[in-house]
Amino acid sequence: MPAEQTDKQSDLPVSVSRRYLADEQALVRELAEVANIDDALNERIRKQAEAFVQTVRHQEEPESGIDAFLQQYDLSSEEGVLLMCIAEALLRIPDADTADELIADKISSANWQEHLGASDSLFVNASTWGLMLTGRLLKVDAEIKRNPGRILKKMASRAGEPVVRAAMRQAMRIMGHQFVMGRTIDEAIERSATKNARGYRYSFDMLGEAALTRSDAGRYFESYAAAIDSIGTAVVDGRSVFEVPGISVKLSALHPRYAYTQTKRVVYDLVPQVTDLVLRARSAGIALTVDAEESERLELSLEVFRAVFRDRRLSAYEGLGLAVQAYQRRATDVIRFLSGLAADVGRRIPVRLVKGAYWDTEIKRGQEQGLDSYPVFTRKAHTDISYLACTRQLLAAGPLLYAQFATHNAHTLACILEFADGRDDFEFQRLHGMGEALYSAVIDPQTHNRPCRVYAPVGSHEDLLPYLVRRLLENGANTSFVNRIVDESIDIGDIVADPVSIGRRSDFRPHPRIPSPRDIFQPERTNSRGFNLADRRVRRDLWAAMNAAVKQPGSAHGAEHRSVNPADISRVVGSWQSADSAAVDRAISLAVAAQPSWDRIVAADRAILLGNAADLFEQHAPELIALCVAEGGRTVPDSLAEVREAVDFIRYYAAQSVRTFGVPHRLPGPTGEHNVLGMRGRGVFACISPWNFPLAIFTGQVTAALAAGNAVIAKPAEQTPLVAHRAVELLLEAGIPPDVLHFLPGDGATVGARVVADPRIAGVAFTGSTGTARAINRVLAARDGTIAQLIAETGGQNAMFVDSSALPEQVVLDAA
Ligand code: FAD
Ligand code: 2OP
Repeated sequence: MPAEQTDKQSDLPVSVSRRYLADEQALVRELAEVANIDDALNERIRKQAEAFVQTVRHQEEPESGIDAFLQQYDLSSEEGVLLMCIAEALLRIPDADTADELIADKISSANWQEHLGASDSLFVNASTWGLMLTGRLLKVDAEIKRNPGRILKKMASRAGEPVVRAAMRQAMRIMGHQFVMGRTIDEAIERSATKNARGYRYSFDMLGEAALTRSDAGRYFESYAAAIDSIGTAVVDGRSVFEVPGISVKLSALHPRYAYTQTKRVVYDLVPQVTDLVLRARSAGIALTVDAEESERLELSLEVFRAVFRDRRLSAYEGLGLAVQAYQRRATDVIRFLSGLAADVGRRIPVRLVKGAYWDTEIKRGQEQGLDSYPVFTRKAHTDISYLACTRQLLAAGPLLYAQFATHNAHTLACILEFADGRDDFEFQRLHGMGEALYSAVIDPQTHNRPCRVYAPVGSHEDLLPYLVRRLLENGANTSFVNRIVDESIDIGDIVADPVSIGRRSDFRPHPRIPSPRDIFQPERTNSRGFNLADRRVRRDLWAAMNAAVKQPGSAHGAEHRSVNPADISRVVGSWQSADSAAVDRAISLAVAAQPSWDRIVAADRAILLGNAADLFEQHAPELIALCVAEGGRTVPDSLAEVREAVDFIRYYAAQSVRTFGVPHRLPGPTGEHNVLGMRGRGVFACISPWNFPLAIFTGQVTAALAAGNAVIAKPAEQTPLVAHRAVELLLEAGIPPDVLHFLPGDGATVGARVVADPRIAGVAFTGSTGTARAINRVLAARDGTIAQLIAETGGQNAMFVDSSALPEQVVLDAA
């Protein structure tokens, strides 16, 4: 058999990502076949799953009321969302006054009363009373609205401390305690000791992720290394890595730029570091599992994992494992990749199968990026089906993979037990603070006698928040098994319903309420198409297309190592002729003559031409990106964002013009008269744009003016005429009449000034410095005749205020 095609740079099989954004319906149909559950099997699973649910619902001493609390305040209630916001921000706030203001702001706007008595749990009702009283107190006093901090202080002076703040902080600490095993590894190991005897194993997770600075990454590395040593000292000699506690590691904690855009650097830096940790784990006799994070980091994780796994010093060590997310469309291909790697190296890989903890983020990112589809499934049942197909695959891999099934779902658990059919070469896993009642039956030697490992986070509140938010989302979502199982109003039959039957009911189609990323703005317009740059195949093809488009020699292969040559571009830019006064005069004359007939075309027809232009921009995206890189000095992701913004502008203005200019608007006629407001173009617009967004701002100005029935004189920044020229060519190709759109390159002081001073110009759209905008304003004001319109977007840097409720890492990413 020929070897599978690989990407030469990294050797990662391209098949890993072939289904990155695969067609959901076709894929899930296939996965349902792999899951292969016939009627008899289905019946056995159902019975077992029902028994599990009964066990959980009839447990006599719930460990805490948190489950019921999170179910009562689930994320479909306004109050649940408010609590989530408080939990997310409160622990981060250093000073009491700001904490009080945050609580007052959130608590006083909700309706807590509705939740009172709705739950049987004493914990829930007591908490609700607390929240309600807090809310009431805050609502009644008008002064509170003006200065909640002071009122809370008044209460504090009576009660000895700010009661409300203390109570809220305490509630959040309880939640933290629920999901975190200890503040230090020693505390966590000690806490785990009491449960070891009951058949639990542990995988400690040192909280911390998504480092953005070297010092944070270094701190996390040290904390992992020290934890490995501590866990190792607690290990009893002679036991295999599968029997003793282990550690879980997030690679994003270990590198400040853990992103595909930095692949080479990350691999270079991270492989030795992770190898170091794995060698320590090996010496300590414990296992190390690499957690799964956002889907755009998957290829990078696999690359690092593969390189570390192949290190010869690890021979005979079976502890290096990886988490695989079943909610990703690539899940089964990733498992295939791992079994291939295990076979190749001749060593077993432990694989922790999870469903995935970043679903909301994945959906939002897919939409933001305008992907063709999502990397994850859009229906809960599809994720469950994928999990079952992956389970079959893991079990079929035999000695190559050691399966670790991480789930809190009784139905999924029952399926695994049935699929395993008495085999004992696998373990279950659950998260600390979740699923304990469910697993009490599974670990019982009298019943299933299967071991269960507990994922046990360790750390202080500063590093807890992202983890806590994921747990609150997981427990608060009404699709979550853990949320549904504690809701006595849901019938057991519904809770343990077979996902294949559920999926089949809608013929495995994607969820209708989650439109494809390209359709999120429908019916108004199509979202601009993005490139999934996290997929190395897409990157490679894009690089090749960029080079081909700007006539660079070379083939697709290896193209991503070469960039478009800026020197060639600057030669061409240097040779541009600035428009002289005759050219300016001629362009304005032609535009003035052409504008009335352009204005008379119905808005919907102009919108069609603009729609054609948007499509052409998308077809020529690689070329436009290449030009923005070479001429504008922008990075590829920024240049892609430019093209997408330009396309969005075109479609947005086309849609707006149909709405605003398409039909006359009837106005009130108080004395019986007939008043109609109709919109029309003003005449010839001068559009003057800056170099820092050479395509997006240029296109936005020009197409807004065109959509409104104006003719346009487009004067791009003198540094970036090529990008603008190509944009104009595409607009003309789309059908905009040449006399309506004129391209006049040149510098601002001559060409720009000459255009603006011409009395035939009806308006100016300008983006740039405040000084130039003022100068344009003065020139326009000094002209005789009709008053010209000036639309100016000026100003340099904006300030951003960030208060202590914000997560600094999030601010850095959002502001960058
Ligand atoms: P269920 O309620 O049956 O399933 C929840 C799953 O369904 C979630 O993945 C959710 O996103 C998905 N879902 C919900 N709605 C939809 C929808 N409309 N369309 C598609 N899918 C949907 N997660 C990681 O990401 N990386 C890790 O490294 C990781 N490690 C873990 C380790 C352990 C030991 C455990 C127990 C969990 C780990 N998790 C990890 C978290 C894990 O992903 C969640 O706990 C898990 O998804 C919950 O699955 P469940 O079977 O318990 O619950
Ligand atoms: C998370 O951090 C458990 O790895 C999983 O959410």
